[in-house]
Amino acid sequence: MTSTLLTNIGELTTNDPEADDLLGLIEDAALVVDGSTVAWVGRAADAPPADEALDLGGRAVLPGFVDSHSHLVFAGDRAAEFAARMAGESYAAGGIRTTVAATRAATDEQLTSHVARLVEEMRGQGTTTVEIKSGYGLSVRDEARSLAVARQFTEETTFLGAHVVPEGTTPEEYVDLVTGPMLDAAAPHARWIDAFCERGAFDADQARTVLEAGATRGLRGRLHANQLGPGPGVRLAAELGLVAVDHCTYLDDADVDALRQSGTIATLLPGVEFSTRQPYPDARRLLDAGVRVAIASDCNPGSCYTSSMPLCIALAVREMGLSPAAALAAATAGGDRALGRTDVGHLGVGASADLAVLDAPSYLHLAYRPGVPLVRETYVRGRRV
Ligand code: NIG
Ligand code: FE
Repeated sequence: MTSTLLTNIGELTTNDPEADDLLGLIEDAALVVDGSTVAWVGRAADAPPADEALDLGGRAVLPGFVDSHSHLVFAGDRAAEFAARMAGESYAAGGIRTTVAATRAATDEQLTSHVARLVEEMRGQGTTTVEIKSGYGLSVRDEARSLAVARQFTEETTFLGAHVVPEGTTPEEYVDLVTGPMLDAAAPHARWIDAFCERGAFDADQARTVLEAGATRGLRGRLHANQLGPGPGVRLAAELGLVAVDHCTYLDDADVDALRQSGTIATLLPGVEFSTRQPYPDARRLLDAGVRVAIASDCNPGSCYTSSMPLCIALAVREMGLSPAAALAAATAGGDRALGRTDVGHLGVGASADLAVLDAPSYLHLAYRPGVPLVRETYVRGRRV
């Protein structure tokens, strides 16, 4: 196996949990990649020899972003719906059905090449791990093939048959389908199961039924909750001890307390508030209460069509009250935790060699220079992608 010394790193974010600062920053740093993992981290002056060396010219290096929430398997777009929102319409879950029609009409090849394009876009912006959901098929065939497409790109696949109730069926019939034949077809391709627990989608009892059925097939649960208004989803996620609950736009004190007690991670999706003109949740309130947060893109054609984690970090800093350091931690180590992992989102010895090299001296530039393509190189498992 070839070892590579990445040296002359102006500022290295390690996310070392033992460090005195949140990000485990090392200045004038170096890092040795051995095959697909990190073999050594420290000051450049102390670096051991390696087979090859790469001088990074004083640039900042970070763990690759861990985007723990996306809906990349779809066809078509809903730009007109976005324009209508910017003219004053509000976001409604019903728009999902427009994408369902387009997705059902697309071939497997079309879906695959579209996901490939979006994953490429993500990598170009420093994302090295991505979770991908189904949820625009809503039939046995279309959910199963959506997950099979997603599986070509990531192990973090999520069955979201319970996205909305499709036309031509009752909620009761549809929950039976999702927890029966659709789950049978989806389970071999999925690691996670999710439900949209929201008025206009699925209520708490239905979401619970879906997650419990998934658990019998070995799928771990996550939830879309409290996105469009206050509701029971966040407390349900805490009660079920889920690893993460996503959106968390509308939280009351009891929700925050439930999250603190259960240790469930609140995954915040600032691109959604941006693209729907909803109020941003107060991330600082969550951190102050002892709740762990992650940041993800939620890349999807309806509520938020960005693949950019740097944009999400900038929004979380500007609009959700996170410091630049807390936002970066949430977009890296936070995502790792939200996916129940420990091997990504940090650059300690033994971690996956997933990293982003910035054309900037510090991670601070991610929020300081919003909209600027700062990611110069991305490495996944030690390989430049
Ligand atoms: O995470 N909330 C539910 N699902 C997506 C949006 C889906 C859509 O509008 O197409 C979300 O925001
Ligand atoms: Fe989502």
